[in-house]
Amino acid sequence: MKVPDIIIAVDGYSSTGKSTFAKLVAKEFAFLYLDSGAMYRGVTLFAMEKGFIADGKIDEPALKAALPELELHFQHGEAGTFLWWADRCIEKKIRTMEVSGWVSPISAIGFVRSWVDERLHAFSEGGRVIMDGRDIGTTVFPNAELKIFVTADPKVRAQRRYDELVAKGTPSTLEEVAKNLSERDYIDSHREVSPLRQPADAYVLDNSDMTLHEETVWLRGLIQGKFGILE
Ligand code: DC
Repeated sequence: MKVPDIIIAVDGYSSTGKSTFAKLVAKEFAFLYLDSGAMYRGVTLFAMEKGFIADGKIDEPALKAALPELELHFQHGEAGTFLWWADRCIEKKIRTMEVSGWVSPISAIGFVRSWVDERLHAFSEGGRVIMDGRDIGTTVFPNAELKIFVTADPKVRAQRRYDELVAKGTPSTLEEVAKNLSERDYIDSHREVSPLRQPADAYVLDNSDMTLHEETVWLRGLIQGKFGILE
């Protein structure tokens, strides 16, 4: 049976849990899950390690010159999706507070966005893809078959992110996490290139008071209603 190409775009604020339910749905309906934020985090780690971030500033010309040498790709397996920089798995490194602190300014740079978009398109060729990010339904895949916009109370988001970091053994405080989230929300929605926006044709999910199970039931219903039962 020919599998039709379908793109589901999941956009929304930081730490709304969109990746968690996108991953579950990906597994259930055999979609490829792609985390676009991980790509921006990968570029940020690259810029940090290459010394392009110093004295609180980004050396944009140096980053632009070096970016073509960066090779990022995802490895998908039973244990999940992991980002690799050439032959090095950087999945853990890109989730640190240090990277979180620089990822929004890095992702506001136009040439970084074009570099990431090109790769997201290549990774998505020919298949069923569910991708999460900030501009997937507005810029990367404006013709996506299904668009979801996820939002939640900032306090709930900060607590979720904090719990996640604690579970991973990454040191931080709730205040530090809340501050990082609100700064990222601001930069992500006020930047000039592809700011975070709710696509006009998106289904909105406020998951402040929802369990993961309720969210997946909601999305399952949408997918089945829109595409019929996918096999
Ligand atoms: O989803 P995340 O929190 O891992 O994303 C990290 C940052 O990357 C986020 O603060 C903004 C940026 N980002 C973006 O600008 N566009 C995307 N499509 C995805 C992420």
